[in-house]
Amino acid sequence: MRTRIIGTGSCLPETVVTNEDLSQIMDTSDEWISSRTGIRERRLVKEETTASLSVTAAKRAMENAGVSAQEIDLIIVGTITGDYVTPSTACEVQAALGADRAAAFDINAACSGFMFALHTADAYLKTGMYKTALILGAETLSKIMDWSDRSTCVLFGDGAGAAVVRSDEVGLLAYDQGSDGTRGMVLTCRNRKNNNPLVQNPTDFSYTQMDGQEVYKFAVTTVPKSIKKVIAQAGLTIDDIDYFALHQANIRIIQSVAKRLGVSEDKFPTSLDHCGNISAASVPILLDEINRKGLIKPGMKIVLSGFGGGLTWGSAVIEV
Ligand code: ACO
Repeated sequence: MRTRIIGTGSCLPETVVTNEDLSQIMDTSDEWISSRTGIRERRLVKEETTASLSVTAAKRAMENAGVSAQEIDLIIVGTITGDYVTPSTACEVQAALGADRAAAFDINAACSGFMFALHTADAYLKTGMYKTALILGAETLSKIMDWSDRSTCVLFGDGAGAAVVRSDEVGLLAYDQGSDGTRGMVLTCRNRKNNNPLVQNPTDFSYTQMDGQEVYKFAVTTVPKSIKKVIAQAGLTIDDIDYFALHQANIRIIQSVAKRLGVSEDKFPTSLDHCGNISAASVPILLDEINRKGLIKPGMKIVLSGFGGGLTWGSAVIEV
């Protein structure tokens, strides 16, 4: 049996912030941002939270799958921006859905979070322990941005994507995931400092910092290798793949991966222009967008690939 994605959903915050809007409040321009990244606008939260976006995305995925809250055995959310350290976003989602049979927890694998959630759900489903899982990638990255640092804050957005997975005849054909903690410091957001009576000046609010060029090098070397690996593992060739749904970090990374694989960019759908980089939420939001556009037909083979902080990466080939 294979783990099959049977429904998708997503939710973006209401408020659109264009590159032009950002250029009114910081020294940047639409030309700089769009030419280097492919991003034209992103959505940022006002009243929404990671959990509220997740709940809406989850309800849409469950409706798309025709699955009720009582049928869900497991909820996994890939996120680095949960609203609370505890409870987890997954527990907040469970409560809001009334999915009281489900075990729920979060995974921190940054931009690979949804892929790690998919692979974890697959491992549980294969044991026979659970039948139906709800997996999400959800972020409110705007709250961990330094809004005085134009080199990072213009790149990211907020949103949530969800999928319902279940054991079936077709589905996840192969996956690859990995981590390289030795290079973790190229993309960081520090948590709180030690805070007890022994420590002087413990208060520390930290924001996202990135060595963009190192992240770029990591992505364009690791992602093509990982994708080739899963395609071979699935017994397929690159020509058998209908779409490559990659983490939406940067259009240049996507173009470079397409070139290194020798595949037309037409097979790489994007949401970067209107979403920006939403870390763990990028892949499921993109998947939901192509699903709702009717681009996914039964029998198609799709590569999903996430990569980012940790450093981490995860790729899969799915048959839909
Ligand atoms: N607007 C205008 N100018 C800017 C901005 C901005 N928003 N940000 C930086 N600049 C300036 C810098 O100050 C610098 O100016 P200087 O030459 O006078 O010092 C100049 O632009 C170049 O800055 P770099 O940081 O060297 O810019 P670079 O060309 O490397 O582009 C980018 C930055 C787009 C992030 C690039 O490194 C990249 O593509 N990285 C890939 C990684 C990535 O996209 N990460 C996203 C998150 S990680 C993930 O999801 C996996």
